[in-house]
Amino acid sequence: MTRRDFINATSASYASMLAWGMIQPAPASALNLPANGQTRDGKGRKVIILGAGLAGLTTAYELGKLGYDCTILEARSRSGGRVWTVRGGTKETELTGTDQTCQFGNGLYFNGGAARIPHHHQITLQYCRELGVPLELFNGSNESAYLYNEGGAGELANRRMRISDYHMDMRGYTSELLAKALDQSTLDQQLTKEDVEKLVDFLKNEGDLNTGHLYKGTNRRGYKTKRDPGAGNTPGNLTDPYGLTDLLRSGFMQPVFYNNGDYAYEQQSTLLQPVGGMDAIPRALESKLPGKIIFNAPVTELRKTETGVRVVYTKDGKPVEIKGEFCVCTLPLPMLKNLESDLSGTVKRAADFVPYMKTGKIGLQFKRRFWEEDDSIYGGISRTNMDINQIWYPSFGLQGKKGVLIGYYNFYSRAEAVGNMPIAEREKMALTQGAKIHPQYPAEFENSFSLAWHRIPYSGGGWANYDDATRKKYYPSLLEPDGNIYFAGEHTTYLTAWMAGAFTSALRTVESIHARVGEYTKK
Ligand code: ALA
Repeated sequence: MTRRDFINATSASYASMLAWGMIQPAPASALNLPANGQTRDGKGRKVIILGAGLAGLTTAYELGKLGYDCTILEARSRSGGRVWTVRGGTKETELTGTDQTCQFGNGLYFNGGAARIPHHHQITLQYCRELGVPLELFNGSNESAYLYNEGGAGELANRRMRISDYHMDMRGYTSELLAKALDQSTLDQQLTKEDVEKLVDFLKNEGDLNTGHLYKGTNRRGYKTKRDPGAGNTPGNLTDPYGLTDLLRSGFMQPVFYNNGDYAYEQQSTLLQPVGGMDAIPRALESKLPGKIIFNAPVTELRKTETGVRVVYTKDGKPVEIKGEFCVCTLPLPMLKNLESDLSGTVKRAADFVPYMKTGKIGLQFKRRFWEEDDSIYGGISRTNMDINQIWYPSFGLQGKKGVLIGYYNFYSRAEAVGNMPIAEREKMALTQGAKIHPQYPAEFENSFSLAWHRIPYSGGGWANYDDATRKKYYPSLLEPDGNIYFAGEHTTYLTAWMAGAFTSALRTVESIHARVGEYTKK
């Protein structure tokens, strides 16, 4: 029995078996759906897909494999949606904003939306494999990057600190404290003598404690500037640890500093990115869909008909009508909200009330990669409680002449406040705040391009930002078709804010449509 026969013979769908861990994820080419007894039996059935982001493109690509006749309506002149790489010549005009044209030099870019692929997002990696999109490492966690706490009172506020110094010292002191408690037999109730010895061994290694179980600094912090080990009589001068109370009063226990790469599941090593920019993924999908995408075609009306759906879009200033048997709507909910439609009340309420993340980024071009040359930072992220929130160093083009780093990546009210600023003010803010971490900024800066996703037409936000209540109340209505209208996109998954969400939503929708068509075929 082949895998496909097995899946067809059981009630379990491929997707649910995958989700339950009953089967290993297969290469993307094997994600073709069961063919309901007949290959390509979607033949001739017309599907209108709203949006050429990853979910829309993937839906068309997979339905196309099954013989469906898909048309994608895309409001923009490009595909990819929130998978968007900004490079020289990129243009954008935000809602109520001024025009921006990116001035980056040749080969320089930043990913304005999706920017990293977790190593466990198999579906994304499989599509890259199937589509021949080459990947490279994305360094998300770099201990050489900085922390900077603005406005704190302690010794360590208002100055940058290497993440490694903070980590090594806190590991050392907490290990020392626990080792002391163990030495004083405080935990004897729970642990045998042998257990205690093993735990102390662990702590000695974890915190790099001395034989007396004290933390006195560690060579893991590295050496004083210009005092590295070298030839002749230069053994290197180790740095001194910060004091525990200074660290505790440093302000680095604020949540903004917590989100260090090694802790969050989606940010643990290894992360990946396509060579040359994230838009390599939508471009590869687009190349599989010649003639299927109508660009510059914003949808204005979505209607249910007796035989399927009717969609109206604007092309060259005029309304155009198109009919199909099914519609797959991948529009972000803030866009669905403003669409004239006869969608059900529950879907309309989801569009009205599911909150979307406000988030923004700025790419800053510098004439010299001072973060590499002066600070030995190759990729990774610095974190601060200032409005810029994070600085991302590029993981590509290493040792090149010029470079673009992401000068802010912020969320919620910070992103809102910064997004409200005129473009020139955003740049000024990013430069002023960033210079507190990198004093090289003013001398090396060349140009910038900034974006605020909640102000970008046809997106209206970074990603669906459910909490338990909105997930319970609104999410279920997006999982079922509304007549012949299906919904896909990251907002219809538990992988919101990730490309894997868009991919998996597309497969779920394709499977659902194809199963329904299979039922018709049987009748
Ligand atoms: N997935 C988004 C990120 O990586 C939120 O920042």
